[in-house]
Amino acid sequence: MKLTLHIWRQKDRKSPGKMHKYQVTDVSEHASFLEMLDVLNEQLIEKGEEPVAFDHDCREGICGMCSLTIDGVPHGPDRGTTVCQLHMRHFRDGQTVYIEPFRAGSFPVVRDLVVDRSAFDRIIQAGGFISANTGAAPDANTLPISKGQADLAFDAAACIGCGACVAACPNASAMLFTAAKVAHMAALPQGQPERYRRVKAMVDAMDENGFGNCTNHYECVAVCPKGIPEDFIAQMNREYARASITKR
Ligand code: SF4
Ligand code: FES
Repeated sequence: MKLTLHIWRQKDRKSPGKMHKYQVTDVSEHASFLEMLDVLNEQLIEKGEEPVAFDHDCREGICGMCSLTIDGVPHGPDRGTTVCQLHMRHFRDGQTVYIEPFRAGSFPVVRDLVVDRSAFDRIIQAGGFISANTGAAPDANTLPISKGQADLAFDAAACIGCGACVAACPNASAMLFTAAKVAHMAALPQGQPERYRRVKAMVDAMDENGFGNCTNHYECVAVCPKGIPEDFIAQMNREYARASITKR
């Protein structure tokens, strides 16, 4: 395959960025989108040009590092898929593709397609822990957790912290991400001691780090590669209201 790519290039946080046009050739339709960028970078290096910086780690849809906006959609055109799991067979030979970093005030561009998502870490630091002494890992079936609660916690734990929800939201809201973390631990017995302190601290951290509020567009749900549902946002709002009333 041969593609025309328009890619955001930016030297560092302070420099202004702009789109650059590239031609990439010899791309296999079986390659992933990141492997296509690897091919481009090899071709740029051969020409003595600076390769394009982009984030990645597991390349298996697990770590949440790959954070690209492809043709205006965080994680690209294939729903429920991270960029690393997106394959070139979803594109046509000769297609023009626009590639940008995730856009959100709380995710400043570090270089080219790499953004700083440490604001998510600060939300997790505010409340994403439990104080229960867990000791050595017990057998899973010795913990009295009902199937329904276990399934709920597992669904929420599927969030990989990629930040696509923030990039897609017109308010750059981190509600879906934060709600998944809150719901995960609120569903389990180990999460009960800090339950109310946690939701208040994480919502406060969300605000302090410049994320907007949810106004029910649900663009976050549409782009989430892990299918985190909007129900968790409603649950977080209920948890927050309960925490405010009980003052715990
Ligand atoms: S809620 Fe979905 S889109 Fe948002 S960080 Fe988690 S996995 Fe990514
Ligand atoms: S590189 Fe890990 S989820 Fe894409």
